[in-house]
Amino acid sequence: MGDILVDMQTEEARALMCTCLKKESLRSHCLSTAAIMKALASRMGEDPEQWEMTGLLHDIDYELVGGDMQRHGEVGYRMLKERGIGEDIAGAVRRHNDLLFGDSQDPVDVALQAADNISGLIIAAAAVKQGRITEVSEKTLKKKFKEKAFAAGCRREKVMGITRFMELTEFFSLSLAAMQEIRADLGLD
Ligand SMILES: [Fe+2]
Repeated sequence: MGDILVDMQTEEARALMCTCLKKESLRSHCLSTAAIMKALASRMGEDPEQWEMTGLLHDIDYELVGGDMQRHGEVGYRMLKERGIGEDIAGAVRRHNDLLFGDSQDPVDVALQAADNISGLIIAAAAVKQGRITEVSEKTLKKKFKEKAFAAGCRREKVMGITRFMELTEFFSLSLAAMQEIRADLGLD
């Protein structure tokens, strides 16, 4: 059971995400996180497709658990395991709820936390530019990152975790470029 999906491809992961998540903003969040994860994997010598899928699927249970952080991640883990998805992806999805599972130092977990949190700040920065993400600059991100009240949901300390692997400046430009590339999917210009 589940053998067909053991080798789940990015497109299937994306379709599954859209089946489970109906809210447009949440879909955009997952697509953004995935794009950043893919770029991070290339930069860090990891598997881009695997990290992209981890980003796509990380909030898969969000609407099902209705924001219940005591179940978030755990339910997603089971949903993915039931579909034959391996521990490498499903485990990262489970662990990304650090409220339940604490801070992990595994590179994929550090990357997912950073991508998960910076994506919201970039979306918010694009909204300031009336949705023109191509007009958002790395300099803007640096400035907005320091303004704690801007995109307050972006947990800055989680973004900072990535500095174990690269300068914050590089992370900003890599993330911005990754999201600009998929701007049509995000409904941005
Ligand atoms: Fe997320």
